[in-house]
Amino acid sequence: MEYKKMLAEIDFSKDLIGFFEDKNLCIINESLLDGTFGLSRDILFDKRILFNNDSLIDSFLLNAKAYNLNNEFFILLSNIIRNDFQEAISNKSNNEILDFEETLEKESPFYSGIPVSKEMFVGRKDSIHKILRNFPHIFKGQTRHFFLTGDRRMGKTSLIDFIGEYMKSYGVVSVYISNKGNDSVEFLAYEIVEGLIDELTLPDESLKTKIVDFFQDHVESVEFKGTKIKLTVDKNLSVSFKEDFINHLKSIYDEFGMDKKGILIVVDDINGLSNSEEFVHWYKRMADTIQVSHINLPVYFLLAGYPEKFYNLTRLDESFGSIFAYDNLDRLSNMEVLEFFESSFGEKSMLIDKDALFYMILFSQGQPLMMQELGESVFWECPNGHIDKYIAIRGIINAANVLASRQIKYTLNILSEDDKAIFKSLISDGKFFFNSSDICDEGFLESMFDLSLIEVSKKEDYDFCFKNTLVFIYFWVEAIQGLIEK
Ligand SMILES: Nc1ncnc2c1ncn2[C@@H]1O[C@H](COP(=O)(O)OP(=O)(O)OP(=O)(O)O)[C@@H](O)[C@H]1O
Ligand SMILES: [Mg+2]
Repeated sequence: MEYKKMLAEIDFSKDLIGFFEDKNLCIINESLLDGTFGLSRDILFDKRILFNNDSLIDSFLLNAKAYNLNNEFFILLSNIIRNDFQEAISNKSNNEILDFEETLEKESPFYSGIPVSKEMFVGRKDSIHKILRNFPHIFKGQTRHFFLTGDRRMGKTSLIDFIGEYMKSYGVVSVYISNKGNDSVEFLAYEIVEGLIDELTLPDESLKTKIVDFFQDHVESVEFKGTKIKLTVDKNLSVSFKEDFINHLKSIYDEFGMDKKGILIVVDDINGLSNSEEFVHWYKRMADTIQVSHINLPVYFLLAGYPEKFYNLTRLDESFGSIFAYDNLDRLSNMEVLEFFESSFGEKSMLIDKDALFYMILFSQGQPLMMQELGESVFWECPNGHIDKYIAIRGIINAANVLASRQIKYTLNILSEDDKAIFKSLISDGKFFFNSSDICDEGFLESMFDLSLIEVSKKEDYDFCFKNTLVFIYFWVEAIQGLIEK
């Protein structure tokens, strides 16, 4: 039995890839498993995750006939996953149900569906650097603009919040505006000014007079409530906020005692304005005026929205795009997800078996929301503080159900049974990336494009790939369960 010989020869202090290469058993390259579950080799062969004498790698090696690893490996991996799911489902949790008091004492470290706290934030180092490197200009009194894009639930708000919190200790005041549902430039300009006003504290009497004088032509009333200033604005008057925007910012910064090194103005979910030529022209004019007139205004504008919305804006006026430094948030790397689970569960002194970690990383697919949802499910599934692979798998199934009822319910409702069957069969074959020849239903590709569930693949050998990772994960879990039921 060749593989037994192989196993006997394995030097566990060596890298697994090195082992196979040494033995000339197969050609392993970067594209190993590309197209399969969207994986790259870092998850499967990273020493910290799998290179250990644990049960998963053992069963892999015990079963590996490993001459053509690509194909064999996929089949093997699928079988292992299916068997483990089957076990996890059949020996249903024998956890005792917590009593109310215990539940109240247990605090989950996870943030499912809400922006994560600065303490539990992981990864995104590149993006953070890209945003931070403009602050030195701000500290010199200059204005800068950054556009952050990312697909739904990719972590835009969490990152922006992290930056705002991080910069506080450097003397930066951060104003956060959610532009969700707003398509009016006047209103946005007003919201920004109001947000800044809200950051001013306890104006003394002379300052109060100054503020009232300044705003009296622009608002219906200015009130002072405790340490705060409250503006009431009439719809018609709010036009002036758009027109005198720079002047307003400058006055607030220079004259009203804003004792800060710089201002970070975040406009999240710019999406509602993404078809507005008025917005593009207003913004461009504002940015150009500040630049050309050398106005001293230490303001960092950080805008966020979906990639296609940014694209829309640049389509309306190409030079709009050139105002901004730019970054797009993609899925987290497997190492970032690893760090996330280790630190979140570590904080609660919970132990994670290696293969449990493997499953959690594999089924998170670098999608931050899934990662949080999964962490939350596993946390409550595991009362004794030790996470084994069956607990992880039950957490995966539960998290997929939560996604289906909360995040992707609408999408699932509009898919036909045939569409669902196509997705499941693609995924049963491990296809995160695929070609048109894999699909026999002609209308499928077009309608899935329209629903933003698939996109054109950037990988050469494939035409398409999944775009909505949450939908992918959901169907993956469904597909495995379907195979078990057969
Ligand atoms: N870097 C991160 N570390 C840990 N968790 C994260 C991180 N980024 C995002 N998350 C989690 O992912 C989920 C989605 O995050 P967030 O709301 O920030 O995304 P978004 O891109 O702003 O979503 P939307 O498109 O709905 O505006 C949340 O549960 C959040 O806690
Ligand atoms: Mg958001």
